[in-house]
Amino acid sequence: MIIQSEQISLKHLLTVEALTDQEVLGLIRRAQAFKNGTARFSPQKEQYFAANLFFENSTRTHKSFEVAEKKLGLDVIEFDAKTSSVQKGETLYDTVLTMSALGVDICVIRHGAENYYDELIQSKTIQCSIVNGGDGSGQHPSQCLLDLMTIHHEFGHFAGLKVAIVGDITHSRVAKSNMQMLKRLGAEVYFSGPPQWYDHSFDVYGTYLPIDELVEKVDVMMLLRVQHERHDGHESFSKEGYHQAFGLTLKRAKRLPKQAIIMHPAPVNRDVEIADSLVESLQSRITEQMRNGVFVRMAILEAILNGKA
Ligand code: CP
Repeated sequence: MIIQSEQISLKHLLTVEALTDQEVLGLIRRAQAFKNGTARFSPQKEQYFAANLFFENSTRTHKSFEVAEKKLGLDVIEFDAKTSSVQKGETLYDTVLTMSALGVDICVIRHGAENYYDELIQSKTIQCSIVNGGDGSGQHPSQCLLDLMTIHHEFGHFAGLKVAIVGDITHSRVAKSNMQMLKRLGAEVYFSGPPQWYDHSFDVYGTYLPIDELVEKVDVMMLLRVQHERHDGHESFSKEGYHQAFGLTLKRAKRLPKQAIIMHPAPVNRDVEIADSLVESLQSRITEQMRNGVFVRMAILEAILNGKA
């Protein structure tokens, strides 16, 4: 698919589903141009404020949004849920209402509740744009876009690519966003991992297979973090047992095709989802995914600013 060059304008970014193919591909193209140094952001005449409201832990998403905001010349408002009035019972709605009243233009939000953004975008009082930095087990649109950027840079297309999504799929917002977009862009999606963390509603996007049937035929081996924080705590779990049954072991990695790449949204549980020495191996693009996160988030924020201009 040819990526067209056009200016993208967004009011919010909540899910990847809400984006057209042209918007997805345009954002990837813009991110790649930022990365290559062939695109420059024109500084806005007005002052714009961004606040990163993270109610769940984050290293990559939080900090890469902050780097992207600073690269674009936005004023970044510090916010820490642990020292804010959230501790006095302030709701998410009231926190965002306050940010909007203070003149914050963009709120990047990560929250444990799926679809937390519905009540925010329906509000007639809240004026700021919402960028979803992850909603529970729902969606992670900026991670999906950076994953797509990484895959597109490697292969130049999506159609016909065989992409395996492996691990704790039920609890993964990354998996949900990626399965939807990869299928829509023409990739062949496969799933693997513990059957108790797979839901047959995903069958519309791809085919579930044991990992040993997948390793020899994939172009992309995308591993997912085991999300213990979303489990009920009653399941017994052995790191070594998981690694041997469902992980990318050194033995399995040797069976990957030469052109195949290894991805993981991170944080990685080394020697659980993936053997430690594979994380920074030649076939791994895990560090590149992190790097691409800054440029994709610049493209997203620029599109939001275009919507305000
Ligand atoms: N991939 C990802 O969302 O990482 P963080 O939780 O560190 O933001």
